[in-house]
Amino acid sequence: MTSDILQKARDYEERFGAFIGESERPVFHYSTRIGWLNDPNGFSVYNGRYHLFHQYHPYSNQWGPMHWGHAASADMLHWEYLPASLAPDTEYDGAGCFSGSAVTLDDGRQLLLYTGVREEQQPDGSKKAYQTQCVAVGDGVNYEKYAFNPVLSGRDVPEGFSENDFRDPKIFRERDGSFGCVVGCRTDDESGAILYFRSEDGFRWDFVSVVDRSWNEYGKMWECPDLFELDGKAVLLTSPQDMSPIGLEFHNGNETLCVIGSMDEKNELQRESVQAIDYGIDFYAPQTLLTPDGRRVMIAWMQNWDTCTSHPSDAKWFGQMTLPRELIIRGGRLCQNPIRELDAMRGRRVSYENIPVSAETTLRGVYGRVLDMTVTVRPRSNGSYDLFRLKFAKGSQHYSSVSYRPAEQLLHLSRKMSGFNRDFVHDRRIIVADRAGEIKLRIILDRFSAEIFVNDGEQTLTMTYYTPLSADGISFEAHGDAVIDVEKYDVRA
Ligand code: FRU
Repeated sequence: MTSDILQKARDYEERFGAFIGESERPVFHYSTRIGWLNDPNGFSVYNGRYHLFHQYHPYSNQWGPMHWGHAASADMLHWEYLPASLAPDTEYDGAGCFSGSAVTLDDGRQLLLYTGVREEQQPDGSKKAYQTQCVAVGDGVNYEKYAFNPVLSGRDVPEGFSENDFRDPKIFRERDGSFGCVVGCRTDDESGAILYFRSEDGFRWDFVSVVDRSWNEYGKMWECPDLFELDGKAVLLTSPQDMSPIGLEFHNGNETLCVIGSMDEKNELQRESVQAIDYGIDFYAPQTLLTPDGRRVMIAWMQNWDTCTSHPSDAKWFGQMTLPRELIIRGGRLCQNPIRELDAMRGRRVSYENIPVSAETTLRGVYGRVLDMTVTVRPRSNGSYDLFRLKFAKGSQHYSSVSYRPAEQLLHLSRKMSGFNRDFVHDRRIIVADRAGEIKLRIILDRFSAEIFVNDGEQTLTMTYYTPLSADGISFEAHGDAVIDVEKYDVRA
């Protein structure tokens, strides 16, 4: 049964989504059909196609009562919009269908596990939100909410854990075919933790363990967890709120955290290393799936709560996902590279080798706002350089840039000049690995975004910008003796 609230959203997106022209959207990044999008949800394989759901408010370009938007794809790059799948239409989720995930049941149906938010009036007149985990089951288009929702509530969390911040379940299959899920939670010390539950059928769940917790070191509430095995390690991803900076590894604000380690016999994660997931400006709430050929692929909201007010106020859509990225562990670090399906979209190629750079210059055929370009910079033999800078999305008034200072191993991403009407929160500086002055940058541009994969995916920096599309120049400059190789492909629609 489709409720009136869900039907209204479906009618609305059908009617108004059609007015947004292809030329107003990114070419190969998923963007919301209409209105507002945040976290990816239910990123999964179902009936031979990839499915992507997301946090969705169809009616405006601002966050509002959360629905789930929905799309499906054969390659994670070309998406077909499907009707909105969940709406806040029951007593237990009337204040929002928050983030969650999806899995295929043995009987072939798709199960969505999500956070239902309910608000209760308090004696002093204020409202308090309660968060529970709920289930809906369907056929890839229509979903029926389970009659006995919620399936996990405040009763199921251990003593000292919150029922007001208890959200974003990520479901997965255990090795024996049963189900596991991890859920973000807040503890009495006001910081984050990840709870682990297990179930035989996806409907009845038991608490297993506290996988890991912040102890106030890595931010407050831990949102949107994911837990999986990768290259023989256990990997926990989560998005902490209100993180304090730690050197240049973690910046101040809503961050992303990757813990690599191993699960012990108590199902607690023994940490071996901790790192940021992405080092750019607009990246949050990633979620992964396992492809049929065994690749762990991650997608994230290409925005951040700290920066999401920075967008054109008249936008008909606001919110897009990052490129899906293949994950591996190399040298003890989580590394990311664009999914290989992107190679099939590559068009015209232009390449240069061993080009000396000094004063700001351009290269013939190297420009554009929709492209996949790899630039390798190194000192000229027996020489050295102090600074290399690459400007992109460059017009007469605007540009964004990425610069590298090899002596400090400092990489700097900036969109201060990209056309935003504030210049705060538009810079990131990070430390990269020492490679004797050499750095390799794979830069992927798609009209309104840049994703930079540093040194074969050892680090990534992601950001959006709304610079006029006519600003499509790319320039190179260096102080000292530097040479560059450039290989650039247009990405075809
Ligand atoms: C993360 C988040 C989640 C929540 C959702 C609400 O971005 O805050 O914790 O489920 O967004 O839209």
